[in-house]
Amino acid sequence: MNIEANKIAGAVLSTLLVVMGLNMVSGIVFAPKKPAVPGFDLPSDEPTTAAAGPAAAAEEPIAVRLAKADPARGEKAIGACKACHTFEKGGANKVGPHLYDVYARPKGSVAGFGYSAAMKSKSGEAWEAEQLDGFIKNPKAYLPGTSMAFAGVGKPDARADIVAYLNTLADAPKPLPKP
Ligand code: HEC
Repeated sequence: MNIEANKIAGAVLSTLLVVMGLNMVSGIVFAPKKPAVPGFDLPSDEPTTAAAGPAAAAEEPIAVRLAKADPARGEKAIGACKACHTFEKGGANKVGPHLYDVYARPKGSVAGFGYSAAMKSKSGEAWEAEQLDGFIKNPKAYLPGTSMAFAGVGKPDARADIVAYLNTLADAPKPLPKP
């Protein structure tokens, strides 16, 4: 190895040593103080009560809504349904089957009405409160393939009113589910 190379290697090494030394010294002089709790609390206006949190956005169960439902309001809310359904006893089928006595009636069971295959496949179920609530909310989401071309009733309380009203359309209304 020649002398020049040795000098260069020595210079590099000593530079490294100086840098390392400085690093150690500054580490001692400027030793960072770590806080006991990292970070700090931002003031938050997020609600702390559960009622105002995401849970409030969820719908109340139909039984809870039925407890405060009003069939008279429901009767007013079914205007849009009348384009396709009759509601009186002995009423005819129109675009949709008659809805007298629909509460607790087996799904797709009005004789002579041409139900969709999707509805016929559910004939083992009945139109209880929960089913009516779900179907009226969004027919196509609740029963893909249904022929009920209706967007749905978005307001949960309005649907409860409608279910309560539908239940009055019977010779003997059924007991509604209690919360
Ligand atoms: C555009 C026409 C139309 C409108 C509006 C409409 N429906 Fe229907 N409805 C239908 C049709 C068609 C069916 C049969 C669906 C099938 O076979 O899949 C049906 C079926 C039903 C059924 C099932 C009945 C059974 O015998 O199984 C219920 C309950 C019902 N509708 C309630 C309502 C209510 C409540 C409204 C108003 C909020 C409404 N519908 C609005 C056309 C309509």
